[in-house]
Amino acid sequence: MKIAVMKETAPGERRVAATPETVRKFLALGAQVAVEEGAGLRADVPDAEFAAAGALVGSRAQVLDGADLVLAVQGPAPEGIPAGALVLAMLNPYQSRDRLEAYAAVGIDAVALEFIPRITRAQSMDVLSSQANLAGYKAVIDAAHAYGRAFPMMMTAAGTVPAARVFVMGVGVAGLQAIATAKRLGAIVSATDVRPATREQILSLGGKPVFVEDEEAAEAETAGGYAREMSEAYRAKQAALISETIAKQDIVITTALIPGRPAPRLVTAEQIATMRPGSVIVDMSVVQGGNVEGSRADETVVTENGVTILGFSNYPSRMASTASALFARNLLNFVQTFWDPEAKALKLPEGDEIVTGALVVKGGAIIHPALQG
Ligand code: NAI
Repeated sequence: MKIAVMKETAPGERRVAATPETVRKFLALGAQVAVEEGAGLRADVPDAEFAAAGALVGSRAQVLDGADLVLAVQGPAPEGIPAGALVLAMLNPYQSRDRLEAYAAVGIDAVALEFIPRITRAQSMDVLSSQANLAGYKAVIDAAHAYGRAFPMMMTAAGTVPAARVFVMGVGVAGLQAIATAKRLGAIVSATDVRPATREQILSLGGKPVFVEDEEAAEAETAGGYAREMSEAYRAKQAALISETIAKQDIVITTALIPGRPAPRLVTAEQIATMRPGSVIVDMSVVQGGNVEGSRADETVVTENGVTILGFSNYPSRMASTASALFARNLLNFVQTFWDPEAKALKLPEGDEIVTGALVVKGGAIIHPALQG
């Protein structure tokens, strides 16, 4: 079984899907590993470290020649991937259907890591969580960097500096880490979500929950633990509550997402106009359409009233080294779970919940139910 590790080609993508540590573990399983030249450079892993771990380091063609399993962060181009090989990567299945069709057309099978079900057994393979956690941390650091005032309260001989007020909108994995990080930096933190289950989580991190209370809110969470798209009426109530809250904040971090849908618009230009100069907003959902009016991917926008809006399109890539280490372990855990030690090969058992959840292309067709029609 030959495992190929690709150099990422998407603009701004710095991560790599394997590390010397995971290469060693793949070799120990009995696999061969080939890493494309330069694959780890932007995540601080030189080719020599992959070679020292036992990987063959070579050109794309050399690496893909005879590969059975192709590891990447973002879905690689199909060219050169052998028919029958399995791609394991984040495939952005709803937005990048063309690539799935291209895989199907040449007989490449593919697992979309984003679709791995969020069940206990799959936690160690969950790239959405491992990456979102780092992103939530980095968003707070970015906000602190752009903010011209201090986060913690400081009592000095020259006078007292007030603590920053941080409001986190969307309390999934990224939001929880943002709350924790902002608390550690000494800010006064509040947070909101549509899912009532997050109230306890906000409290447990020392934040103040800000919630719309109505019947719809009780059903805001799907069986899978994600948010639903909310009604007009709910959104109007939420907007009023947010307007009240936002005017008092120094930092707003938005992380709200609904799987397969555009990001909900949570912060309007009118609301931003009520914030004081020097305030900072980080829109972590900018790529999915943005939670914040006026946010732009990979640009720093400063509004007329002096509010800075940051929106990075690839947050985990801003911490490429750590993000790669965790991503690579997520992939290793997937492979170890489905490794057949006798055949020394990856065998995806039919009917397994993780496999049915995440295998999107098989035998020349897009097979996932969420991607039909
Ligand atoms: P996500 O990235 O899909 O969304 C971020 C947050 O935005 C969510 O908390 C969502 O409820 C919130 N949101 C959506 N629309 C909103 C709106 N209009 N206003 C305010 N907030 C809004 O979420 P993520 O981080 O992927 O987590 C989703 C769920 O998965 C959570 O319940 C999380 O606890 C759960 N999870 C479970 C794991 C497991 O293995 N059991 C692992 C990781 C997450």
